[in-house]
Amino acid sequence: MTNKILIVAGDGIGPEVMGQVERVIGWYSDKRGFDVEIDRDLVGGCCYDAHGVAVTDATIEKALAADAVFLGAVGGPKWDNVPYEGRPEAGLLRLRKDLELFANLRPALCFGALADASSLKREIVEGLDIMIVRELTGGVYFGEPKIIEDLGNGERRGIDTQVYTTSEIRRIASVAFELARKRDNRVMSVEKRNVMKSGVLWYEEVIKLHKEQYSDVKLEHMLADNCAMQLVRNPKQFDVIVTDNLFGDVLSDIASMLTGSLGMLPSASLGAKDASGKAKAMYEPVHGSAPDIAGTGAANPIASVLSFAMALRYTFDRGACSDLLEKAVDSVLANGLRTGDIMQAGMKKVGTVEMGDAILAELNRLNG
Ligand code: IPM
Ligand code: MG
Repeated sequence: MTNKILIVAGDGIGPEVMGQVERVIGWYSDKRGFDVEIDRDLVGGCCYDAHGVAVTDATIEKALAADAVFLGAVGGPKWDNVPYEGRPEAGLLRLRKDLELFANLRPALCFGALADASSLKREIVEGLDIMIVRELTGGVYFGEPKIIEDLGNGERRGIDTQVYTTSEIRRIASVAFELARKRDNRVMSVEKRNVMKSGVLWYEEVIKLHKEQYSDVKLEHMLADNCAMQLVRNPKQFDVIVTDNLFGDVLSDIASMLTGSLGMLPSASLGAKDASGKAKAMYEPVHGSAPDIAGTGAANPIASVLSFAMALRYTFDRGACSDLLEKAVDSVLANGLRTGDIMQAGMKKVGTVEMGDAILAELNRLNG
C-alpha cells in the first residue's frame, strides 16, 4: 500500500527544513522500500497571499485523505496586519481542528552531544527523556466566546474562554497513560485547579479514569506554574506530562531549551484511531518560522527530520526505520556538526543543506 503524505511547508524557514525532510523520505523510499506518494500544498501566510485565506477547503480535503501531513512552520512579520481570521496561525489551527488532532506528543530528549548546548547545566539535562502530551483541539484556543467587545467610554473587553468537557479530558489522559505504559510508567497531570474550574474538572476526571482503567500507572498532579519551575530545576523527575492546550504550548517551549535548542524538538499531532486502527496525523517541528534567518540556509532541519522519525513510528508502524533515523541524527551530532542554534566552541558550523547531507551520509553508513 502506498503511503500518502501531504507536505505543507508553510512560511519562513518551513520550506528550507521541509526540503531536507523530503530528501530523507526519498532515502527511505530508495533504501528501505518505503512506498510513498507526496503531494505539496500551501498553508499559512503563503496561502493567504495566494488565496486570501490561511488554508483552503481543498487543502483540508487533501489533508483528511492523507496518511500523514507534514507541516514546516507558519507566520512572520509580513502578515502582522492581515485580518485576524486570515492570519497564518489560523491555517494551522484549522488543520488541527478539522482533522481532530487532539493529542499533541512533544518529546524532549537531550542528545548526549548537546548536553552542553543547553542553557542549563549538563548534569541537569544529560539523559533527559520526557514526553509532553498536550491537548490540542480544546481549551482556550477554541473556546467561545472569543471576542473583543466595545464597552463604550473608550473601554474595550477581550474575552477568551477556557473550556473542557469530561470526554475531552478522558481521551487525552488515556493517550498519556498508554504512552507511559511503554515508558517509565509515570504520568504527571498538570493544571491550575487552585484558580480554574476547568482545572478542578481536569484533576477529578484524570483521577477517575486512572482508577477505572490505569491504576497500574503511577499518577501524580502538579500545578502548571510549579511544573514550569520544576522543568528548569529538575526536569529528569518527569516521565510523561499531560496538560491542556495553553499550558502545553508554554511548557513545551520551556522543555525545548532543555534539549539544547527549539530547533531540536519534533512533534506529532494525532487523532482518534478509526475502526481499522488508523489515526489522522500531522507532524511538525515545535519551532516557528524564524523569519530572522529565513532564506539564509542556516535553519536547523533536525526538529523536522525527527518529526518524520515520529511519523515512521506512530503512523507508518516502522519502528526500526524510526530508530535508524534517530541514531543517524545522534551520530551527526556526536561527529561535531552543528547548525547556528546549537553551535558550540570547537564544533563545525553547517547550514541546513549540509546538515541534511550529513544525516543522509549517516543513514547510508548505518544501513551498511
Ligand atoms: C505551537 C505554536 C502554535 C500554538 C502557534 C503557531 C499557533 O506555538 O505549535 O506550539 O500556539 O499552538
Ligand atoms: Mg508554541
